[in-house]
Amino acid sequence: RSLPVSAPQFQPTAVPQATPQTPVTVVYGTQTGNSRLLAERLKQRLESAGVAVRVFRAGEYPTRELKNERVLYVVISTQGDGDPPDDARGFFEFVLSKRAPALNQLQFSVLSLGDSSYPKFCEVGRVLDERFAQLGAARLFSRADCDVDFEPVAEPWLGQALERARTELGSPVATVTQLPTASVAPTFSRENPYPAQVLANQRITGRDALKDVRHVELSLEGSGLRYEPGDALGVVPRNPPELVDAVLSTLKLDGATEVSRDGRVLPLHRWLSEGLEITRLSRPFLTSHASRSGDKELERLIAPENAAGLRKLLDSHQVIDLLRSHPAEWSAKDLVGALRRLTPRLYSIASSQKRVGDEVHLTVARVDYEAFGTRHFGAASSYLSTRTAEKDLVEVFIESNERFRLPADPSRDILMIGPGTGVAPFRAFVQERAETGASGRNWLFFGEQHFRSQFLYQVEWQEAVKKGVLHRLDVAFSRDQGQKVYVQHRLREKGRDVHAWLEGGASIYVCGEAQRMAPDVHEALIDIYVAHGGKSREEARAHLETLREQQRYLRDVY
Ligand code: 2AM
Repeated sequence: RSLPVSAPQFQPTAVPQATPQTPVTVVYGTQTGNSRLLAERLKQRLESAGVAVRVFRAGEYPTRELKNERVLYVVISTQGDGDPPDDARGFFEFVLSKRAPALNQLQFSVLSLGDSSYPKFCEVGRVLDERFAQLGAARLFSRADCDVDFEPVAEPWLGQALERARTELGSPVATVTQLPTASVAPTFSRENPYPAQVLANQRITGRDALKDVRHVELSLEGSGLRYEPGDALGVVPRNPPELVDAVLSTLKLDGATEVSRDGRVLPLHRWLSEGLEITRLSRPFLTSHASRSGDKELERLIAPENAAGLRKLLDSHQVIDLLRSHPAEWSAKDLVGALRRLTPRLYSIASSQKRVGDEVHLTVARVDYEAFGTRHFGAASSYLSTRTAEKDLVEVFIESNERFRLPADPSRDILMIGPGTGVAPFRAFVQERAETGASGRNWLFFGEQHFRSQFLYQVEWQEAVKKGVLHRLDVAFSRDQGQKVYVQHRLREKGRDVHAWLEGGASIYVCGEAQRMAPDVHEALIDIYVAHGGKSREEARAHLETLREQQRYLRDVY
């Protein structure tokens, strides 16, 4: 944007005057969708207030425009070890790089999302915030760092963002009269989930299998909810009743005691069953429990130099384990104040609406095991596994996932790598490609422990192969032989063809476990480019990075 040639002679100040045409820009970087949700919320409010606004996913933001921005809001999350979301990497690296321009005319603020149980809590937002200031930009108001339970911190920040944008950029009177008048149909969302009827809940692993995996079908009839393959279903869980009782009896608290928090008054029992996290242990809770118990061992554990040990403890323990191993006194009020709010769980949707209409299908692995002398449950997985068809309702919403989409061009081939419940979105993909008659080929890699009891959706895959809508199917059953065989072994074995598909423009999708599977699969892909593409490891790595940027290498891992 350059100044008009016939600029008026009398500029009242050196700073260009705000005009209604100068939009506020909101850039968000999201992995699970929370930042996007907040960015969209901000957009709606700014628009209702007559402030022009542009919203960009970080990966799509044209960084060359940064120097022209007047008001910029960044809403961004931090991944486990201090990384930006996949899609925000380019943006993040650009801002930190030497190529970043001076930003003397920019006013900004950052809303940072993270998980305080990781040492590098909200690191990405913090680093961006400092960097913008270093580049000469002025903070409109200070950054806010949200924990997993983001609303209490995000809301005040959104309020300020709206207020300050209005005062900085003005709100042309004319648009006030254009406030939305049409009444919007009630939509179901994270804030207002839809109570969906359970249509089916069927165990799809054999009785002798170690894992209890369920195929769950819910009805969205009348909800108006729509989803695309790749989207997730948000499920509002309730904690296992046994666990709620165990917490109450261990702390010798009365479940009927009324406690208020965040403006709600509920009996303690209800707080524990539907309001607060008890199947996960958070760092703030651990810290406050440690100081209550006065236990020296716990105090040592939470010391900053013990980050790795602490991480392990937080990952492996539930609230109840801590209460039992290190007794301490808690009042009902303090307990409710110290636990995290229960957050919805996201499940990759396993169906295509083109096939199932008003239904939504999930593949749910029930987390339920014995450790430290107590049963450990996954909140949502045990909740879903115990819902009865035709009887129970489950509160749900759609979490759209633009990062994990089928190729826009239906003639493109796709490679899908989905061991375990990671196969869920690929059931949706194959259904969708079958229903739409996509001409591209579909190749699935699936893995589980045993062929006989854990070949999830075996009959459906075989049908799909027979009908010619699944072109190739490779399976790795890790425990059916002496040596472990995983999907990445199959990928390497079929490396020549995998390479040929990729060279032919195929997209590659990986869904499932993030810690080991996804990196191992990544390594296998590098090996394939080395073995069959004549690339060095460095070149192979760079090539995969390019595929990622072109959104041809997409991951949905957890
Ligand atoms: P395992 O349990 O025998 O180790 C789905 O969970 C499948 O993924 C199982 O067969 C599991 O094997 C396998 N799996 C475990 N670790 C893996 C890894 N690093 N890469 C790929 N698959 C893995």
